[in-house]
Amino acid sequence: MEQKRVSVIITAVIKNTENYINGFSIKGDSMGLTQVSTRLVSYFEIFMKLLRDTFGSLLLKKWISTEKENIERVDETMLPEILRIQAEGLDDKNQENLIKYSKKLKNIFYVIKNQDKIAGYCVYYLKPELSFKGLVKKSVIYSIAIDKKFQKMGCGRKLLEESIEEMRLNGISSVLLYVNVNNTPAIKLYEKIGFQIIIKIASVCGQEETCYTMELKLA
Ligand SMILES: CC(C)(COP(=O)(O)OP(=O)(O)OC[C@H]1O[C@@H](n2cnc3c(N)ncnc32)[C@H](O)[C@@H]1OP(=O)(O)O)[C@@H](O)C(=O)NCCC(=O)NCCS
Repeated sequence: MEQKRVSVIITAVIKNTENYINGFSIKGDSMGLTQVSTRLVSYFEIFMKLLRDTFGSLLLKKWISTEKENIERVDETMLPEILRIQAEGLDDKNQENLIKYSKKLKNIFYVIKNQDKIAGYCVYYLKPELSFKGLVKKSVIYSIAIDKKFQKMGCGRKLLEESIEEMRLNGISSVLLYVNVNNTPAIKLYEKIGFQIIIKIASVCGQEETCYTMELKLA
């Protein structure tokens, strides 16, 4: 049933793409090559995002969750506290995305507690990629933050280690993240866990920010 729905979506996207390209050849005289390629690139990006979201939600339906001491899955009642920790800890204060992910990505939105108080959170999204091996399942850390009161007590490390163990169990082949080059505490934490810097890039973390892409290979 799910597979049928996916194939219907993909067929619709491909058909739309064909119509789009045909449209260009008819209007070829009035549209510059740069405009055509820019619009094709953005259309391709939408297509890839649609594929990612569709396969991601299929993978999440079969997600195996494990019991972890002091780590829980997000629920609605935790959101005000999580949004406060995000606002105090991060420059990216995109609350809408965290609220959306707390519903759509509940299985991979982890919350760590300390004496029944929310100490921090870490949320991932899934990123299936096509490779010569077939479909490879990767995940990306979208956001992680520990409440200032609970920092430097091992919470960040425990949250990452335990959630990454669950990623491994679910066949995720590597975990990716983007971190500002000046965020030393976070970089040190990631390196301690085994992440490696792959590349330095601009404008992924935010405008006028330079980031490292870091990766932890699991398979
Ligand atoms: C980065 C962050 C999540 C670390 O969480 P934490 O719970 O304080 O980290 P831990 O106590 O588990 O520390 C684990 C390791 O990280 C490194 N680390 C943590 N805080 C550090 C600091 N202030 N300076 C240098 N290294 C630090 C250390 O290597 C530490 O190991 P050690 O205790 O053996 O020295 C936390 O500082 C935070 O929430 N920062 C604000 C939000 C943020 O920057 N998120 C990351 C966005 S990409």
